[in-house]
Amino acid sequence: MDFKNRDIISIRDFSKDEILHILETSKKIESKPDPELLKNKIMASLFFEPSTRTRMSFESAMRRLGGNVIGFDDPNTTSLKKGETLWDTIKMAESYSDVIVIRSPIEGASRLAAEAAKVPVINAGDGANQHPTQTLLDLYTILKEKKTLENLNVGFLGDLKYGRAVHSLAIALSHFNARMFFISPKALKMPDSYLEELEQKGIWYREEEDLFKVSRELDILYATRIQKERFPDPLEYKKYAGVYRLDRKLLDHIKPGLRILHPLPRVDEIHPELDDTKHAVYFEQAKNGIPVRQTILALVLGG
Ligand code: CP
Repeated sequence: MDFKNRDIISIRDFSKDEILHILETSKKIESKPDPELLKNKIMASLFFEPSTRTRMSFESAMRRLGGNVIGFDDPNTTSLKKGETLWDTIKMAESYSDVIVIRSPIEGASRLAAEAAKVPVINAGDGANQHPTQTLLDLYTILKEKKTLENLNVGFLGDLKYGRAVHSLAIALSHFNARMFFISPKALKMPDSYLEELEQKGIWYREEEDLFKVSRELDILYATRIQKERFPDPLEYKKYAGVYRLDRKLLDHIKPGLRILHPLPRVDEIHPELDDTKHAVYFEQAKNGIPVRQTILALVLGG
């Protein structure tokens, strides 16, 4: 399987076998990382949107494999402020680095960057569209916890309209015959285009507003934040802020083996009283970003 020089823009770019290969390689890298694997390689980290986990874990992943990092996390400090285009910015990053990691609020920005760049481009989240590396670490976490990815009942909770991590994960899980429960207010439901894609693949799904009506069926509950920054109208956001708050009451309505994931950051969707239960795996999930992103960087750089 050859990933060298490949762009990673959408989870749709991967076959099931390729996803499994990345997860197996992540396990190997986690157990035996090579601190010199990416020596003399440079990653350009271009973040046009706030990030804690994705940016820091990519940087950490690169440095722990002996590579270097350049870039920015505030576009206001760059020549974009003077009117330079994204295209020209990417042409510069390509000259100075071996791989580009980009996060943008604009859907399709990473696809455009991939067209501009000769070096591989990795999408670290583009608007409400896709977040493929988040999905790979989500799958890695689910596999570690459940020992399989096949035939799981997965609940997606919260903002399914704007949640890019949900969009990517639902597509990825369609390779593994998941039964999907989309739990959200009607106004934040899973976009029809995704539901149609799942229907075409023969995937069973159910839409529901009340978590407790389906929670006992779930193996995985993937909670998400209401994506305040994506709402055109702040008053509309206020209507849905805090609509789901997971706390200890949930524990009376679940299977014993339920695992709760969240791409983070959380605002008030999960009460900290759940953090030390066996069900909560969201901090472990964030930590899994290191071996998975190390694997992605190593593969596209031919390491
Ligand atoms: N999960 C995730 O993308 O987190 P950040 O926005 O902090 O990178």
